[in-house]
Amino acid sequence: MSLAGRKVLLGVTGGIAAYKSADLVRRIREQGAEVRVVMTEGAQAFVTPLTFQAVSGNDVRTDLFDRGAEAAMGHIELARWADVICVAPASADFIARLRAGMANDLLTTLCLATDAKLVIAPAMNRLMWSNPATQENCVTLEQRGVVMLGPASGSQACGETGEGRMMQPLEIVDDLSRLLGEGPLAGKQVLITAGPTLEPIDPVRYISNNSSGKMGYAVAAAAARLGAVVTLVSGPVTLDAPPHVQRVWANSAEEMLNAVMPRAAEADIFIATAAVADYRPAQQADNKIKKQNESLNIALERTEDILATVAGTYKDVFTVGFAAETDKLLEYARGKLERKQLDMVAANWVNQPGTGFDADQNALTLVTTDGEEELPVQSKAQLATELMDKVLAAYQRSAKNS
Ligand SMILES: Cc1cc2nc3c(=O)[nH]c(=O)nc-3n(C[C@H](O)[C@H](O)[C@H](O)COP(=O)(O)O)c2cc1C
Repeated sequence: MSLAGRKVLLGVTGGIAAYKSADLVRRIREQGAEVRVVMTEGAQAFVTPLTFQAVSGNDVRTDLFDRGAEAAMGHIELARWADVICVAPASADFIARLRAGMANDLLTTLCLATDAKLVIAPAMNRLMWSNPATQENCVTLEQRGVVMLGPASGSQACGETGEGRMMQPLEIVDDLSRLLGEGPLAGKQVLITAGPTLEPIDPVRYISNNSSGKMGYAVAAAAARLGAVVTLVSGPVTLDAPPHVQRVWANSAEEMLNAVMPRAAEADIFIATAAVADYRPAQQADNKIKKQNESLNIALERTEDILATVAGTYKDVFTVGFAAETDKLLEYARGKLERKQLDMVAANWVNQPGTGFDADQNALTLVTTDGEEELPVQSKAQLATELMDKVLAAYQRSAKNS
């Protein structure tokens, strides 16, 4: 049992998904953990404390100012008791209170008074989720080390369809196991970029790079299998997010940089597989450019180098870059390793038949300061697994692993 002996404090807040949390308690207990439930006032409008008392086998706490409960296990003691505080569902309002550092009820007070890992599974209407206030709150919380699980997409209780559903209880249990110690990368945060970026010329045209995202998605799946908490910042691709991977969309190089930088602050390993455009149109036309002249000149300007910026800013993050080249593969890869001060470069030829961009197979040459290693042609899924094994070994040897 993957959560055997663990102490999970489950916070339940006021959302429709609160009814799923009763099942979550059962699933966590099935894995051998003890669960204590704390409910907000909002949560009690949806499910009764009696339900959680029955499924958890413990008293349910609802009040901060509860003399009886304080005498038995004070709130500070409860905060110390937990190996992890998991808030599922986490309402938009709770997320805002947590971000603001409020302690106006028992759950927020516990979250402030603990040094346990804090994990939240947001659940709300899709517009509440995409609202900039909620998005900003979540980015800030992630920067502070709070782990976000989901939300997932699909049909919602309010009748709408979109992003904002709580992750399924079994998925949450898997992620808790991962965070609390299963797999060699358990408790580690791996940040990965994948896919192309689109740099708009006008409202209908763009310049981009050839990239299906397959390699990056396979690397994200392999990192999750090693037990890491994985965030995948993805350019526009048509792939499904791998299991147990938190996906964040980014269209342009600038959007990708903005999505990566706050998350890199908390990452242990950063793997840049995205084919980020090196140049973007210096001006984006407001209206579609008409077909008038025989030729059209578009001035381009450099985009910011995401990999170099992460490596230069967060020197304790283990950084892996990808290099796709049509010639002088090793020379360019080693140059990239040294110039950008990376820990590893995974280099691949992109002009060989059957490998590269949209293919399902690929081969890599790994370049580190110790030397070079070939990973021969194989499926991208197998290659990603081998690559992650090598990254794991190099990371474990490196001083950055602390
Ligand atoms: C029927 C109903 C359903 C709601 N569902 C959600 C929800 O799914 N997610 C959410 O963030 N807020 C939802 N709300 C709003 C929250 O209950 C409200 O913001 C409350 O103050 C949250 O308090 P809490 O975070 O302390 O539990 C819902 C409200 C109602 C009346």
